[in-house]
Parts: sequence; structure tokens; C-alpha cells
Amino acid sequence: MEVTVKAPASSANLGPCFDCAGIAFPLYNFVKVKKAADGDVKVIIDEKNDVRTFVVDEKNIIFQAFKRFHEKTKTENTGYEVRVETHIPIARGLGSSASVISGALIAANELNGNPLSKQDLIDIAASIEGHPDNTTPAFTGGFVVASIEDDGHVLYEKIDWCKDWKISVCIPDYKLLTELARSVLPEKVAFKDAVYNIQKSAQLITAITNHNADIMRSALNDKIHQPYREKLVPGMSEIISELKKENNVLGCVLSGAGPTLAVITEGDNIDNVKTIVEKIWHDLDIKYEIMTFVPEENGAAIV
Ligand code: HSE
Repeated sequence: MEVTVKAPASSANLGPCFDCAGIAFPLYNFVKVKKAADGDVKVIIDEKNDVRTFVVDEKNIIFQAFKRFHEKTKTENTGYEVRVETHIPIARGLGSSASVISGALIAANELNGNPLSKQDLIDIAASIEGHPDNTTPAFTGGFVVASIEDDGHVLYEKIDWCKDWKISVCIPDYKLLTELARSVLPEKVAFKDAVYNIQKSAQLITAITNHNADIMRSALNDKIHQPYREKLVPGMSEIISELKKENNVLGCVLSGAGPTLAVITEGDNIDNVKTIVEKIWHDLDIKYEIMTFVPEENGAAIV
């Protein structure tokens, strides 16, 4: 028996809500899983017909998904074969790993008689990534606020996104590993920067809850991760400051750990966004693509 899970992309942080909010997009990985009998976890990655096969170990997120599933259910892991058809660009800040983790866990649950609840799977997924802001929207769809509580479980809540607000992801053609993007973050932040982010996070949730564009425009700012990551994303600060001048732009933020930039606009016309991004990244010789979305309201599911 083979199970296929369709699992969405996501964009975490949305500026100030570092490690605690994310939104799912209609861009998907397909995770096809069947049991094996040799105890190994064999992974086949199919990235636009570039197919790579390897047997993975402890260091791999798919291995971890199965390991933690079987630890939690106190059952034997006899091995798996996993084929991932990737349509979510890898290492771009679009939740590709979270999508694969959610797919592996949902498939493992199905192949073993569904012993775990969705909450259990969300908890395991967040424990693998160490933060819940991509893994949770991968399971739930939509815009979600999420935290890992002291007992390890994820507390989350979805909030309706305003239908007039579009998200354009500007995806540069280079990879940025989350480990590197986290390694440049400081041990401590200044008290005034922490207060700034608390204010902006509160504004962001209020703006989304009340569909208030003026508050959203003020909220989409950050002082605790983006300033440190700027050096890893050439052109980022220029694009953000140029887009701030545009009436239809509510904000531009780093998508997750980057290097993708997420631009939130009111209305459908984003020609001005494309012109600004083209001017700045073209001058820096950075190739990219832009996709415009409304959120995917459904989370990962068996197809
Ligand atoms: N909140 C995480 C970060 C998302 O910004 O590092 C990346 O997976």
C-alpha cells in the first residue's frame, strides 16, 4: 500500500511574529510513502525530473518523522520508501521541509492504522523543526499563530485572512539554509527592539483579525531577525524601503528565514512591485521568479 500526501508551502514570521506565525500557500509537495521491510528509510527526491535517491539517517528530517512517530506510538519501525515530488523551491524560506515532514507524518499515521491525532502529528512536526511556524500551517492551512508550550505541545489558532490581501513571493534563484540564517541571529536583543516587536506582533494579529489595512501597514516590520539577515539577502533592504512608498503595498518581509521576500498587497495589480524588484535584483544580477497567491486554506491531506 502506498499513501500520497499533498502538503502546502508556507511563509513564516510575516515580519514581527518570529517563530510564532505562518501562512500556507497553494504550492505543494507530494509525499508518496510505502513501508519497507529492511529497516532503512530510502528517500527519492524528484525535483523537476532531477531524481536523486539516498538512504537517510538520524540527521534527515524524514528519518526523524518516522523515528518520532514510532517512539510516540511505541511501535516497530520496519523502514519506509518515500518519494517526494517537490514543487516548493528548496531552502528558499517557503516551508519545503515542513511540508515534507507533515506529509511523512500523515502517511506514517495512515499506514499504521491512524493511532495519532492531528494534534499529536503537529506536536511531533514542531519538535523536529524546533519552531512551529511552518509545520503548523502545513497541517492546518491558512494563517496560524502557534507556539510550542512548556510541555512540548503546540498551541495554535487560525485567523481568517482578508480576501483583498494578496501575497507575492519573490523567490531568488539561490538557496539559503535555515541553519545559516539562524546562525547570524544574536544571543540577545536590545530591550527597545523586543518592545518594538511585541508592539508590531500585537498590531499584526489585530490587523489580520479586523482586516485593517492601515494597522497592517504599520505591523509588517521587524527588528529582531530581519536586520541580522539582511547581509544574506542582497537587495532586501532596498526592496523593502522602496515598496514602503507604494500605496497598494501593505508591507514586504523576509519569508521565513529567506531568501524569498513576501510582499503583501491590496488588490490584484502588482505591476509596480514587479518593476521595483526587477530594478533592484536585475542590477545585482539576481535571477528570481514572482508568484502571487491568496492563502491555501486546507492543510496537508491524503490524496
Ligand atoms: N521562524 C523560522 C526562522 C522560520 O525565521 O528561522 C524558518 O524555518
